[in-house]
Amino acid sequence: MLMDHQQRTKEMIKEIDRALMKYVERGKHEKLIKAMRHYPEAGGKRMRPVMAMLVAEAVGKRGKEALPFGCSLELIHNFTLVHDDVIDKDPVRRGRPAVHIAFDEPTAIIAGDALFAIAYDVLAMTDVDGERLRRLLRAVSDTVFLVAEGQQMDVDNEDRPTVSKEEYLDMVEKKTAVLFACAAEGGAIIGHGTEKQITDMKEYARLLGIGFQIWDDVLGIKGDAKKVGKPIGSDIRNGKRTLIVLDALERLEKDQRKHVLTDALGNEKATDEQVRAAIKLLEDIGSIENARQFALDYAKRAKDLLSCLKDSEEKEMLREMVDYAVGREL
Ligand code: IPE
Ligand code: IPE
Ligand code: MG
Ligand code: MG
Repeated sequence: MLMDHQQRTKEMIKEIDRALMKYVERGKHEKLIKAMRHYPEAGGKRMRPVMAMLVAEAVGKRGKEALPFGCSLELIHNFTLVHDDVIDKDPVRRGRPAVHIAFDEPTAIIAGDALFAIAYDVLAMTDVDGERLRRLLRAVSDTVFLVAEGQQMDVDNEDRPTVSKEEYLDMVEKKTAVLFACAAEGGAIIGHGTEKQITDMKEYARLLGIGFQIWDDVLGIKGDAKKVGKPIGSDIRNGKRTLIVLDALERLEKDQRKHVLTDALGNEKATDEQVRAAIKLLEDIGSIENARQFALDYAKRAKDLLSCLKDSEEKEMLREMVDYAVGREL
């Protein structure tokens, strides 16, 4: 990434952070306020608001107008993370104890709901005409519903003996990619983009989002726990049917090493050594590399859609965002 682009992203994130912290300072209940603030104040990449603002700027020089909309999506993202960590029983997020650990499970459920409520309030602050606002509202509601479906599919898949790659991709599109798609679509709407730009930018972000989640699955298995901000191998213990695991189960069908994976997969009591052995096997048989290639293919397709934009610095930054989403450090 070019240095001035990096600097610009940093400035945008500062602006987003300032706005977010103001929005979550709400109500009278100290514990609830602290629980709501717990993830937003711990940082995060802020990819969704940055994307919304870049798209709005790229199509119509209206980046600033997309700030509340972007923050609204970031709040929704944070709300789903709070609940997701309860669902996945993950104790750490963004390098901190998860909300349900730092507080308790009921508080995590309530804080998630509260963040969701605030998100709609912030969305309503968007300075656009009524027709555009209605469109944004519908896009956000559709998106959150699809995320719920995707999360339910993810949970259901844990108990299924087999899941097809198509089913995995459908799940990933819903639990992760639609929120990115909403960010880019909304940014294009706010920026007064053409219908083609709105459609193409939505598709750009959908493809980026799928690639991003596949890459995230790779990081969850091969990454550095400190950089990733969450424990490595929890997907294995939780029995997540990631693309990596699905590919491995297929390749190991008649292989006597298969038990090394299945001993750890979905076994909450698996030792660190068992998890390490399973990860090594995934690596040896090429399933991690296969997932990497899959993610990179989505990234390439995402970049192709940027041709609907006139050349600009923001267009370049949206291109760099793909490389960042799919290709973050291992
Ligand atoms: C994490 O999203 C959840 C997924 C959809 C994989 P991010 O990786 O964008 O999380 P933050 O916001 O940077 O912490
Ligand atoms: C998170 O998916 C998706 C949502 C929160 C909607 P994951 O469960 O795969 O993401 P991480 O690994 O916890 O960030
Ligand atoms: Mg999770
Ligand atoms: Mg999850």
